[in-house]
Amino acid sequence: MSACHAAAAVQTGGVNVLVTAGPTREPIDPVRFLTNRSSGKMGYAVAEAFAKAGHTVLLVSGPTSLDVPDYVDFVPVTTAAEMHEVVGHHLKRMDIAVFVAAVADYTPAKVAPQKIKKEGDSLMLELVKTKDILGSARGEFGFAGTLVGFAAETENLEANARRKLTGKGCDLVVANDVSEEGRGFDSHGNEVTLCFPDRTLELPHAPKSELAKDLVETILDLHLTKISTSSNH
Ligand code: PMT
Repeated sequence: MSACHAAAAVQTGGVNVLVTAGPTREPIDPVRFLTNRSSGKMGYAVAEAFAKAGHTVLLVSGPTSLDVPDYVDFVPVTTAAEMHEVVGHHLKRMDIAVFVAAVADYTPAKVAPQKIKKEGDSLMLELVKTKDILGSARGEFGFAGTLVGFAAETENLEANARRKLTGKGCDLVVANDVSEEGRGFDSHGNEVTLCFPDRTLELPHAPKSELAKDLVETILDLHLTKISTSSNH
């Protein structure tokens, strides 16, 4: 696509966007798993806002109780390994990717084939690191588009988010302080700090659906700048 066509696609719809959302579930045995408090609300709101702006959206989501937004393609996954595989399969053809999912950083080394019995006074569970999906985007998956990560932090919000921005090759990291009531995990609203390589911007507390619209506008502007800059080189 020429730079002119690409810019028109950003303004009028026609950009391909991948969004990850929700938690992952890492099985321990046939009836138990490790997970986290992500409801999927933030990621689904971002997917919906891109679709409403006319773009083609693929939502890759861990288990949630939410309805898939209209006009959004959907691939459900359960574990971090499944999310890694699905994202890796689709990412190359995307223009923009937004990683909102709360992916498990560790998973049980082995899944017990039968329900673990209550035997000793304690139980050791060996966990191994999962693959970092966002961290695989630039290298393993060869993604050259606009890359947006999220950062859920309980301390040193901006410093930790900036480490993710540079370490994972992102164009933007959306940081939320998840130690505060009423924002982050499983809340109706959120309040975020946008960390760009050259500046920081605060978006005040708002319902996730409203915040998602502002985020989508910001991400589309960022994408437009990225494609016009690369076409000038
Ligand atoms: O779902 P909700 O209830 O609406 O809550 C929203 C939210 C709090 C989940 C969301 O706003 C948010 O902060 N998402 C990121 C959560 C997170 O796991 O952050 P992290 O700092 O651990 O991860 C950093 C980034 O790497 C994230 O973009 C994450 O998607 C990605 N990651 C992390 C680990 C991994 N193995 N693969 C990844 O891709």
